[in-house]
Amino acid sequence: MTDTLDRAGIQGIVARGYSSLGHARFTLFACDGQSAARGLLGWLLPRVTTAAPRFSADTAVQVAFTPAGLRRLGLPETAVAGFSLEFLAGMAAANRSRFLGDVGESGSRGWAWGGPAGPAIDGLILLYAATAELLDERQAQLAQQLAATDARALAVLDTLERQDHEPFGFHDGISQPLMQGLPKASRAGGSVPAGEFVLGYRNGYGQLTDRPLLPRSADPRQLLPPDPGGSSQADLGRNGTYLVLRQLEQDVDGFWNYAAEATRRPDGSGDRCAQDALAAKLVGRWRSGAPLVKAPYRDDPALAEGNDFGYHHTDPMGLACPLGAHIRRANPRDSLDPRPGTDASVQVNSLHRLLRRGRSYGPAGGSPRPGGATGLHFICLAANLARQFEFVQHTWLNDPAFNGLYDDSDPLVGSRESRGRTFTVPARPVRRRYRGLPQFVRTRGGAYFFLPGISALRYLEQLPGSVPSGPRTG
Ligand code: HEM
Repeated sequence: MTDTLDRAGIQGIVARGYSSLGHARFTLFACDGQSAARGLLGWLLPRVTTAAPRFSADTAVQVAFTPAGLRRLGLPETAVAGFSLEFLAGMAAANRSRFLGDVGESGSRGWAWGGPAGPAIDGLILLYAATAELLDERQAQLAQQLAATDARALAVLDTLERQDHEPFGFHDGISQPLMQGLPKASRAGGSVPAGEFVLGYRNGYGQLTDRPLLPRSADPRQLLPPDPGGSSQADLGRNGTYLVLRQLEQDVDGFWNYAAEATRRPDGSGDRCAQDALAAKLVGRWRSGAPLVKAPYRDDPALAEGNDFGYHHTDPMGLACPLGAHIRRANPRDSLDPRPGTDASVQVNSLHRLLRRGRSYGPAGGSPRPGGATGLHFICLAANLARQFEFVQHTWLNDPAFNGLYDDSDPLVGSRESRGRTFTVPARPVRRRYRGLPQFVRTRGGAYFFLPGISALRYLEQLPGSVPSGPRTG
């Protein structure tokens, strides 16, 4: 049975990536005290875009909070404690950094924002607009409002005008899980329960993921929905989800120089076809987006949106798409134990899906200007940070022993700090090993947020005052 989604109660980014709004800017903010936080949320509330059907506006606004931001709004510690441990500890906590591969050059001490040395972040505002002018206008209104409410922008993350291709040059944004309760899912098989991406709905285990539930007395105005699990509590989590934001810097020249050097002919001349083929092997798709399992030998733009495939029956050895390629790690589809190639395998896989909503940044066209940088403001949504985002990042992307490999991390985005500097390309008669793979992607910032449902935003905005604007805590 499929839960009916309360779409008007959910922030819109859960249902759509705002592809019609090509321009976006993400503002990380901090507030001086509760009244500032409440004032800002009060201004945002009527502007927040919901996931209600038939979206046609030319702008959109979303807002999410860190634990510090929820405390700043006056949420008592007993309620804060109901959020997940990963969210409460934060992405930059030392043990999480090791777990996520944020070490060496990606270490959180060197982050531009979100690191332990920087100011604590209270929240994140995502602004989208159909034109650059409209975005500037809305951003200026936001800046005015921040100043008027004693809130500060800690960082404003600009993005590139939305396009199909990410900075390395590959078609991105092709494969997304289909969430039950949204129209596309009803037209296709293989959809994922809404509770994998929205709290307060049944997840892949048929259960309601843990989330903060409050005694009814904590919500005298009955702003929050009741716990659908049948307790008499008020559900602060329902219609909300966790949002992961990571600034991932891409070394575009390093990536293509490596592909050129690694495929140079014995006489020293370059081989453009071999270079493109190696780059495609790292990703698992050609630049057009055509998946290697469907187009093993050359790019085929006719297959650019191709997403209806598995690995086990067509390519069990990884002869077409290497076992360690980025997309084969990030979504192994039907290749997982204990019974690869069966629905049971797909079912296990569906417990580790992510809704990706990132946008690229940097100069248009790829190569950064001196002092500039290019990359991806990676955003994903998941109801369970540990089982979804952290598992994919740690156990699939960064594990050197993934899929029977030995010293390979994700060849595109994996950490090479301690191990994982090899990329294995299965081939007949012998496989090819590329050793000493450089680091192509580095983490420059990151944080976990809670993206509340609309009722929770209303609730947070009217909490009684209690927090003095004293020293800030994380
Ligand atoms: C700068 C960093 C990254 C780049 C350039 C990148 C690039 C790509 C590209 C080109 C695709 C293929 C297009 C598609 O299937 O939509 C893809 C797919 C994907 N990526 Fe990434 N990615 C990056 C980081 C990450 C991270 C950090 C994660 C997860 C923690 C991730 C998870 C995924 C997933 C789940 C897919 C879809 C795979 C599938 O369903 O077949 N990516 N990425």
